[in-house]
Amino acid sequence: MPRGLFITFEGLDGSGKTTQIRKLAAWLERRGHATVVTRQPGGTSTGDRIREILLDARNAHLASMTEMALMFADRAQAIAEVIEPALAAGKIVLCDRYTDSSEAYQGGGRQLGSETILALHRLVCGNLQPDLTLLLLPGFDASLARARRRNSRTEARGGKNEGRFEAEQDAFFRRVWEKYREIAEREPQRVVRIEGDLGIDEVYEQIVEIVSERIVTASA
Ligand code: TYD
Repeated sequence: MPRGLFITFEGLDGSGKTTQIRKLAAWLERRGHATVVTRQPGGTSTGDRIREILLDARNAHLASMTEMALMFADRAQAIAEVIEPALAAGKIVLCDRYTDSSEAYQGGGRQLGSETILALHRLVCGNLQPDLTLLLLPGFDASLARARRRNSRTEARGGKNEGRFEAEQDAFFRRVWEKYREIAEREPQRVVRIEGDLGIDEVYEQIVEIVSERIVTASA
């Protein structure tokens, strides 16, 4: 059984990843590729509990190191329970955020630095790297505004305030943004950037083209 393909989606909050993942999963399934969709933090029952702690706006006091350790605890569980078994079974795994998020948000945003994150990744994740990472980078201002609107809508509907990250200052997101660009420059083979304020369909077309190429290469 050939090993599956591990594809991750990255970007700022409000960059439209979730919509694109849903569309790509449907496209892959239509072509007969068994596909597993998951997200971080979350995606396992343990991970969903960790997610609640991480995103709850009431946990404003969470130390940066705690935040980072919880992100990796969640990831270790997802690898063991979801990602590795699916790849071993030859499936395509689409994961909404992975270690690049930790490098961008904790390494960049919280200023813990890339080295700390990459060292933990080697230790906790056995250095499991995606085969392909789609980095969605629409205009900074537009994506931030979208994320903030989304969170206040959820709260207004009586939902939980999952906005601990969205509540951060613009300077925090600037650092996240810069770190994402740095990662893409460091690993151009793995990380493909989709930049600019494009419509949903334009982004989708680009994604389908990139993923089709990778599937052909992987099965050659
Ligand atoms: P989520 O509601 O899933 O946001 P989005 O739809 O934008 O992905 O929230 C995940 C939040 O957690 C997001 O603000 C980014 C943050 N995060 C980190 O800070 N580090 C990480 O390693 C991961 C996976 C997520």
